[in-house]
Amino acid sequence: MLKVKDLNVFYGRIHALKDVSIEVDEGEIVTIVGANGAGKSTLMWTLAGVLKGKSGSIIYRDKPHPTVAHEAAAGGIVLVPERRRLYANLTVRENLMMGAFLRKDIEAIKKDLEYIYSLFPILKERTTQYAGTLSGGEQQMAAIARGLMSRPKILLLDEPSLGLSPIYTAEVFNTILEINAQNTTILLAEQNAKKALEIADRAYVLETGRVVLSGSGKDLLQDPAVQEAYLGVRHKAI
Ligand SMILES: Nc1ncnc2c1ncn2[C@@H]1O[C@H](COP(=O)(O)OP(=O)(O)OP(=O)(O)O)[C@@H](O)[C@H]1O
Ligand SMILES: [Mg+2]
Repeated sequence: MLKVKDLNVFYGRIHALKDVSIEVDEGEIVTIVGANGAGKSTLMWTLAGVLKGKSGSIIYRDKPHPTVAHEAAAGGIVLVPERRRLYANLTVRENLMMGAFLRKDIEAIKKDLEYIYSLFPILKERTTQYAGTLSGGEQQMAAIARGLMSRPKILLLDEPSLGLSPIYTAEVFNTILEINAQNTTILLAEQNAKKALEIADRAYVLETGRVVLSGSGKDLLQDPAVQEAYLGVRHKAI
């Protein structure tokens, strides 16, 4: 579905992504694991059409990837950015409707809103509340819900569990599984490597802009280097 090959992205002279190659197949959950500054968000913003690569190629559904954000969104590439970025002074419902900004199918939008409220009952209770007054966990739900209102074919989730309590984190990961089960492909960037690898079909480890490891989520969970660097497991020197 998505094929990134030898992608290089710069901020001025800072080389943030170095020859990054990843693939996401339709229906998969693919995880990008990496520490602060590894380049996860840079990859997400590039796939969302906001940042541009200097070299390399991105193929989306057998065509060159749309390099303009609204075209990427219209094509079904939808980003739920890190730190939510909701409109604090709009209500929950208004925020959700912003996700449907490019759509004209009013009846389907209404149905999607009902579906989303069934997925996140708390948002239905909060529908007229200003987004800025939601708790962190509720804001993350609202951000994912807004993404869903754009009818993604592939949903890019940038650190959805950031700053959340264990209970909300578990809820977010369950929701990701549920969304995936409804035929939405997921690309997930996370520092919470354990949970992310547990739900991932496949995963890539990004270190200072480079892909250094890849494999099935299960295999990477068992990988000693991943365990030491990202899962807090200590291996004794022999
Ligand atoms: N707007 C920017 N201008 C200059 N450098 C940037 C900019 N945004 C990111 N960078 C740099 O690019 C590199 C990758 O950053 P990025 O935000 O993609 O990492 P990340 O993996 O998402 O990190 P985190 O886990 O902290 O969110 C870092 O070295 C960062 O300092
Ligand atoms: Mg980031």
